[in-house]
Amino acid sequence: MSFTNLRPLTGEGKKIFIETYGCQMNFGDSEIVVSIMQEEGYFYTEKMEEADIILINTCSVRDNAEQRIWGRLNEMRRLRRKKPTLLVGVIGCMAERLKEQLLESGKGVDIVAGPDTYRDLPKLCREAEGGGKGINTLLSTEETYADIAPVRLDKNGVSGFISIMRGCNNFCSYCVVPYTRGRERSRAHETIVNEARTLFENGYREVTLLGQNVNSYADGEVNFPKLLAKVAEISPLLRVRFATSHPKDLSDELIATMASYRNICKAIHLPAQSGSNAQLEKMNRKYTREWYLERMAAIKRAMPDCAITTDLISGFCGETLEDHEATLSLMREVGYASAFMFKYSVRPDTFSARHFEDDVPEEEKTRRLTEVIALQNELSLQNNRNDIGKTFEVLIEGSSKRSDKQLCGRTSQNKMVVFDRVEGYGAGDYIEVEITDCSSATLFGKAVVEVE
Ligand code: SAH
Ligand code: SF4
Ligand code: F3S
Repeated sequence: MSFTNLRPLTGEGKKIFIETYGCQMNFGDSEIVVSIMQEEGYFYTEKMEEADIILINTCSVRDNAEQRIWGRLNEMRRLRRKKPTLLVGVIGCMAERLKEQLLESGKGVDIVAGPDTYRDLPKLCREAEGGGKGINTLLSTEETYADIAPVRLDKNGVSGFISIMRGCNNFCSYCVVPYTRGRERSRAHETIVNEARTLFENGYREVTLLGQNVNSYADGEVNFPKLLAKVAEISPLLRVRFATSHPKDLSDELIATMASYRNICKAIHLPAQSGSNAQLEKMNRKYTREWYLERMAAIKRAMPDCAITTDLISGFCGETLEDHEATLSLMREVGYASAFMFKYSVRPDTFSARHFEDDVPEEEKTRRLTEVIALQNELSLQNNRNDIGKTFEVLIEGSSKRSDKQLCGRTSQNKMVVFDRVEGYGAGDYIEVEITDCSSATLFGKAVVEVE
């Protein structure tokens, strides 16, 4: 089975524009949505003004994510005044969470579709074209869109994302995802391997397997390490990455599999959220600081060169100064290569919203987050400095942002490297680069190539 979508992406006819917020899984979903709408005869456009339908694929993970989308909807209302036939749809997590609220009169929304209802979008659009409202927010226990070949909207042509599962069963007490995405389900492994192979045959050299907790992937006998191995075996020239790993499920089998394939990248995103056991328990993360550090040690034993990155939340309910200090000390102990850092944002109806008080004042949350960010900047810089003098295999992604005379690409550890262009090398090629300098965000180096 080939996994190529053969229809032309652009052309003359009704046009759809899609804007995506949130995690990589949402970006993956947008590619499935465009594929479904193509089957209905729609063409994709990058120009919002040309569109007959505008879809906004939304995120609810923090309040500021939702506020941005309300702002966008205001702008859409202005567009609709100029073009009365324009349809506007809200899809994704915020559609799931706010449903009818989005369809209230005056909001300028015609279609509301939750993450498991995208096959229904053509019908919802027809209902809206007929002057009604199209709404479907049913969650499914089975939908994985496994048979739909996504169009590729990311243009680099080197690195692609593949959703391997949907939903989440973990119910971390602060998190809205289990409510907006529903129960966890895994996609059939053959369809994942097919999609990865098709990407490789089309010139892609890196795939990232995506799920909220990839470690709990299960399709019959095929668990996550086995799936990872199957994808790695497509070709030694195809790099394989994954996100996200929940620390509680990070198995020795996964570590051993990563260590035994050169093309499985030596990078693990392992969100800690907090360094304090009391907070981890209230967050319902189901591991302790000691467990987390033991997993870290197991990773380092098997793969001394593995980069570890994380997510951290500042100012969760009841966080004391000691809890905050415990997070800072965990950061130092692990020496994260990089981190995504957030202020706690109450999500209505989650466990923590119902049972705990959001009692860290806003200014104090900001102060703690600032401290966490400042420490991470130091750690990232230190971590990058340790790479100076070493040589890494870099997968070239294209010209560097600053200059056409330079190329950029990533190491197996997922660090961005910028270096002077070398004749004969371009996007999709591997090249050895010796690191000569760095900032906290980027490595700089010099290609090591044999001159004939
Ligand atoms: N499934 C992934 C993370 C998904 S959400 C995991 O479990 O690791 C991405 C990150 O957003 C989380 O890791 C967490 O750090 C942050 N996050 C989630 N809910 C949040 C909230 N209510 N307030 C602040 N940050 C939150
Ligand atoms: Fe949210 Fe926790 Fe699931 Fe991640 S594992 S999506 S933080 S509930
Ligand atoms: Fe946001 Fe939904 Fe992803 S809430 S982070 S878009 S799963």
